[in-house]
Order: sequence, then structure tokens, then C-alpha cells
Amino acid sequence: MSEHELRVSKIRDGTVIDHVESGQALNVLAILGIDGSEGLAVSVGMNVPSDRLGRKDIVKVEGRELSQSEVDVLSLIAPEATINIVREFEVVEKNRVTRPDGVSGVLSCPNRNCITNDDEPVETRFDVVADGVRCDYCSTILRDDIADHIDV
Ligand code: CTP
Ligand code: ZN
Repeated sequence: MSEHELRVSKIRDGTVIDHVESGQALNVLAILGIDGSEGLAVSVGMNVPSDRLGRKDIVKVEGRELSQSEVDVLSLIAPEATINIVREFEVVEKNRVTRPDGVSGVLSCPNRNCITNDDEPVETRFDVVADGVRCDYCSTILRDDIADHIDV
């Protein structure tokens, strides 16, 4: 890549979430619970040219790896994403996200009457369906607003 093309600098140790659907970078940060107050070095590229996607977003986080439940939720908003683990400037692991059958304990149900919103602690569980995710308890479907209901 030529000097003119380098938009976001390389990281030393951490995670690069690449091939994120354009427009989803801030939702990726929301899923990771990153708002800057953690003190981690974070770079975000938006609408960066991509051979595969035309345009893509990219998120680089120094000093942080992702949990499986974070990756599961990421796959719902960025199904083409690649998760690159970087150590000492080298990509040591590269994984495509895969759509899980369901996600437990990471999304909150928007239905105020849902049992998962009662005082009794009931862990949320959403099935992944064609057009979004569906609450196992009350069948409420989350579509475009998944990122607004992250509870990790
Ligand atoms: N990257 C980084 N810091 C590093 C190494 C890599 O920020 N020290 C970034 C690269 O800029 C790229 C991503 O991590 O966005 C993946 O790196 P690499 O596998 O080297 O790039 P590609 O081969 O282009 O990846 P792919 O085949 O997944 O498109
Ligand atoms: Zn519900």
C-alpha cells in the first residue's frame, strides 16, 4: 500500500475489526463498550475504499481482544467483518465472523413487559432469524436497532 493510501496507522498489539459494513463503525464501538473513557488507543476509519465491499468501515483497538459474545453480536451488524488479532505489529490470527444461532445475555429486550425486564434476574436470549433477532420469551424482534440494545 502506498503512502498516499494509508489512512489509519498500523497497531502494535490489539484487534483490527476489518470489512465492517459502511455506517456501522460507531455501532461496533458500542458493542465493545468503548467510548474513549477506557484510555485505549482506538482508530476508526469510515467509508474507506475496499476491493471486496466498495466502501467499508474499520475499527482498530490497541490492547484489547474480543469475547465470543462480542463477536456474536458484531456478526449481526457486520456479517462480512474480519477479526484480526495483532501482536508485535503482525496479524497472528484472522477470523471471519459467523452468524450464531442465538445470543444470550448480551442484548436487552425492548418490551417493558418481557420477563427479562422483571426484577427477577432472567438472562436474555434471542434467536437469530432472517430479518434480525427474536426474543425467546416474548418474540419481540429487533432489526435495525440491535446496536441500541446491547447489554454486555
Ligand atoms: N493491521 C493493523 N496493524 C498491524 C497489522 C495489520 O492495523 N500491525 C490491519 C491492516 O491495516 C488491515 C488488517 O489489519 O486493515 C488486516 O491486515 P492484513 O491481514 O495484513 O491485511 P489484508 O491481507 O489486506 O487483509 P484481508 O485479506 O483480510 O483483507
Ligand atoms: Zn422479550
